[in-house]
Amino acid sequence: MTDNKVPYVPGHGLLAGRTAVVTAAAGAGIGGATARRFLEEGARVLLSDAHTRRLGETERALAAEFGAAAVAALPCDVTDEAQVRALFTEAVRLHGRLDVVVNNAGLGGTADLADMSDEQWDRVLDVTLTGTFRCTRAALRAYRAAGRGGVVVNNASVAGWRAQAGQAHYAAAKAGVMALTRCAAIEAAAYGVRVNAVSPSL
Ligand SMILES: NC(=O)c1ccc[n+]([C@@H]2O[C@H](COP(=O)([O-])OP(=O)(O)OC[C@H]3O[C@@H](n4cnc5c(N)ncnc54)[C@H](O)[C@@H]3O)[C@@H](O)[C@H]2O)c1
Repeated sequence: MTDNKVPYVPGHGLLAGRTAVVTAAAGAGIGGATARRFLEEGARVLLSDAHTRRLGETERALAAEFGAAAVAALPCDVTDEAQVRALFTEAVRLHGRLDVVVNNAGLGGTADLADMSDEQWDRVLDVTLTGTFRCTRAALRAYRAAGRGGVVVNNASVAGWRAQAGQAHYAAAKAGVMALTRCAAIEAAAYGVRVNAVSPSL
């Protein structure tokens, strides 16, 4: 018998002195786990999410564990350009620098294409693709102005590569996130910024 459990690797300061923004970071999903891992690695993290109550709960829990100086939160719905701008203004104001942005906000749903409404299509595309566009744009503007480089990580999905019934809107949005990421990467390399995407499975 083999034990398939992978031991949890403790943080070892990989992000010491860095500041990060993570969208859709409230609660128990990938954004919350990413924020936690960044804190374990020594980063200061500005959490954001559209769900204000759960964002506050997450902020308090992480601040209790990692210290209030390392954790801040600002509600941000990525479909709202004014809120996205406010998030990035706050990120730079908080610690005087920005190093890592994780665009994690994304929304799914299940509907066969023949039955899909415009509203279902628009909602998934607006949060998942256009939200990633808005936040990537804001991040690149902040990085370009500061002239210190930086990193953007966009959360895509294997759905962007693979066919799956009922997921046309989500798959199209995630394929769009990958295409946007590739284009942003070659543009932002010119001012020392890396833009990548990750593609988790379920
Ligand atoms: N969970 C998976 O299996 C999986 C697999 C592949 C990709 N992903 C991607 O990872 C990301 C996170 O997924 P998850 O399953 O961990 O999420 P989740 O469902 O656990 O949490 C999503 C969070 O997004 C927030 N949110 C929703 N709309 C928002 C908006 N307009 N602006 C800001 N925040 C908003 C919600 O309040 C919630 O806290 C998404 O982009 C998703 O597409 C997830």
